[in-house]
Amino acid sequence: MTLKRFGVSIPEDLLENFDKIVEERGYIGRSEAIRDAMRSYISESQWEAGGDNMIASLNIVYCHKPKIMADLLKVQHNSEAHVISTVHVHMSKSHCLEVITLRGSKDSIFKLANTIAGISGIEFAKLFTFSLPEGEDFKHGHIH
Ligand code: NI
Repeated sequence: MTLKRFGVSIPEDLLENFDKIVEERGYIGRSEAIRDAMRSYISESQWEAGGDNMIASLNIVYCHKPKIMADLLKVQHNSEAHVISTVHVHMSKSHCLEVITLRGSKDSIFKLANTIAGISGIEFAKLFTFSLPEGEDFKHGHIH
């Protein structure tokens, strides 16, 4: 990876606020924080633009009831988006946290996320969206 340097002019107070967060988050310097911010900006822009190479995780919290469980399974089976995994955490005596990892087009992911959020009894639903870096696809996994 070739690193490039560039100069940027920004208002002083913006830089001060940025540096404060950089320090709070424990970054060693501005550079890595700027790289992370740029990656996030690019990913968000690509997500906005849509496409088929989208990935997302939907975090939901609900009160454990057989009807909700059945509804959740049904909508996931019927979804156009591909459900990669579901992690179910028994959070408390009554409440469950579920992280559903999704792959597919932006529209199919939004559709499923909205359908799940609309299920009666789902108390919290938050979608984390991500698009693959340019030139990458889902066809190849990798080994750590
Ligand atoms: Ni549970």
